[in-house]
Amino acid sequence: MSESPLLLQASGLCKSFGGIRAVQNAVIEVPRGQITGLIGPNGAGKTTLFNLLSNFIAPDQGKVIFDGQEVQHLPSHAIAAKGFVRTFQVARVLSRLSVLENMLLAAQGQTGENFLQVWWQQGKIRRQEKANREKAMAILESVGLAEKAQDYAGAMSGGQRKLLEMARALMSDPQLILLDEPAAGVNPTLINQICEHIVRWNQQGISFLIIEHNMDVIMSLCNHVWVLAEGTNLADGTPAEIQSNEQVLEAYLGV
Ligand SMILES: Nc1ncnc2c1ncn2[C@@H]1O[C@H](COP(=O)(O)OP(=O)(O)OP(=O)(O)O)[C@@H](O)[C@H]1O
Ligand SMILES: [Mg+2]
Repeated sequence: MSESPLLLQASGLCKSFGGIRAVQNAVIEVPRGQITGLIGPNGAGKTTLFNLLSNFIAPDQGKVIFDGQEVQHLPSHAIAAKGFVRTFQVARVLSRLSVLENMLLAAQGQTGENFLQVWWQQGKIRRQEKANREKAMAILESVGLAEKAQDYAGAMSGGQRKLLEMARALMSDPQLILLDEPAAGVNPTLINQICEHIVRWNQQGISFLIIEHNMDVIMSLCNHVWVLAEGTNLADGTPAEIQSNEQVLEAYLGV
């Protein structure tokens, strides 16, 4: 069987909160190797769609296929273990842990988690911890956070926390990273750096789905853009097509 060009393919996704239909019959596709955008006005359902794709919230209906397999019934940690990870609109780093400790929490397949294994395999655990530490430091180095490795994550700026969350996502060797507003509340210099990192990680083979209100970021990074409004698909196309789509402009201007 040949590999599908689509790494992620979701269809018919629905989610209501009480009377609010946050996501209705939504469709989204992420081709392998590409950077895909997801835009839409405030409250359009973008973050809810991310929550459904990664099963942080169970969909009322719908199907999510990641790398050829249905994943909508899997717990989110099992989806992450398959190489599909996400970041949050408000970065979720543990403020009272160091930057390095935040990175190490994300390491996959830690032998030391099981008591008997701890007893029998101390040498193996030490080697694995050393390898995780080296990997974490190399990633921190590559994003310019190595000097902060021992600092509390809570002492960092909002933008640096977003960067740390992305760096932490890399610890699990992902195929696909979902980024929820990586540029929101971040200063322009750091936005440029974050965009450069995303391009570099993409060149290394990682695919991205990015929610962002900053249109410069979407237009410069994305191969293809999906637009959500009031919980449903409004349009999708190249950045240039989306920029000149009248329905999209209307949805944003609310006319
Ligand atoms: N846990 C929840 N309980 C109740 N309502 C919710 C919940 N999560 C989201 N909603 C509602 O669902 C709708 C979509 O919200 P969502 O956060 O997905 O939008 P968004 O497109 O990410 O917006 P923004 O651009 O402001 O981040 C909104 O009306 C929101 O109030
Ligand atoms: Mg949101």
